[in-house]
Amino acid sequence: MQQPMLNTAIRAARSAGDLILRSADKVGSLHIDQKGRNDYVSEVDRMAEREIINIIKTAYPDHAILAEESGAHAGNDYVWVIDPLDGTTNFLHGFPQYAVSIALKHKGKLEVGVIYDPLRDELFTAKRGGGAMLNNRKLRVTQPNSLKGALLGTGFPFKTDTHLDAYIGMFRALTTECAGIRRAGSAALDLAYVAAGRLDGYWEIGIMEWDMAAGILMIKEAGGVVTDFSFNDKYIESGNVITGSPKMHQLMYALIEPHVTDNLK
Ligand code: IPD
Ligand code: CA
Ligand code: CA
Repeated sequence: MQQPMLNTAIRAARSAGDLILRSADKVGSLHIDQKGRNDYVSEVDRMAEREIINIIKTAYPDHAILAEESGAHAGNDYVWVIDPLDGTTNFLHGFPQYAVSIALKHKGKLEVGVIYDPLRDELFTAKRGGGAMLNNRKLRVTQPNSLKGALLGTGFPFKTDTHLDAYIGMFRALTTECAGIRRAGSAALDLAYVAAGRLDGYWEIGIMEWDMAAGILMIKEAGGVVTDFSFNDKYIESGNVITGSPKMHQLMYALIEPHVTDNLK
């Protein structure tokens, strides 16, 4: 059952990716709305989401959907979790780092995940129990023994100031211990890069289920660990994520934990 569903996710992600690429040279003339502070949506996000939902609904008319731009669509025990364009701010600036992210949950358990980078034609996929792949290559997280030399990914809490002080404390603690920290602007690709061993670890405050669902399955299937800021698995509920190999996760957690305020637990 998983493979046909993964194939549908791949078809939908590729089709949305093509549509996004075709619009990339006309960003100046796109209609853009502001959803909140520093939170923008363009007609391309909406078109890509409609394309994905059409493809999924044609294959699986009874399945439910949770999509960033159109919200929850009722259905059965299967839920497709969709971010049609992760990295909208990058896309709108012509900054080449964005992706389509699609995951499928069954009774709350992630079954398949796809993250597609249309600019590099990189397709990251995962199946529960079946591993994670980048195009035709099997993925493993890196296995460093220390933060020394490690490259970490993160996202800044740019939509509100609420957690800025806590975040800066975490950043300060990690930046002095590792080789570098990247804020590339697409949480989905950050997670895919951890699975692919391009980043040794990643943390972020306040991301959404559609940002992380596919990437979390990918990292777990590539041998990594994902937790919230309380060392538990409530990352979808809290939006707070720390991830890497088991060792990297432990090293990062030890430096992040002293800065975790009660409302981040
Ligand atoms: C955003 C990106 C970004 C992360 C934000 C997300 P969007 O998604 O993933 O890296 O820091 O929290 O909202 O809005 O471009 O789909
Ligand atoms: Ca997103
Ligand atoms: Ca998005």
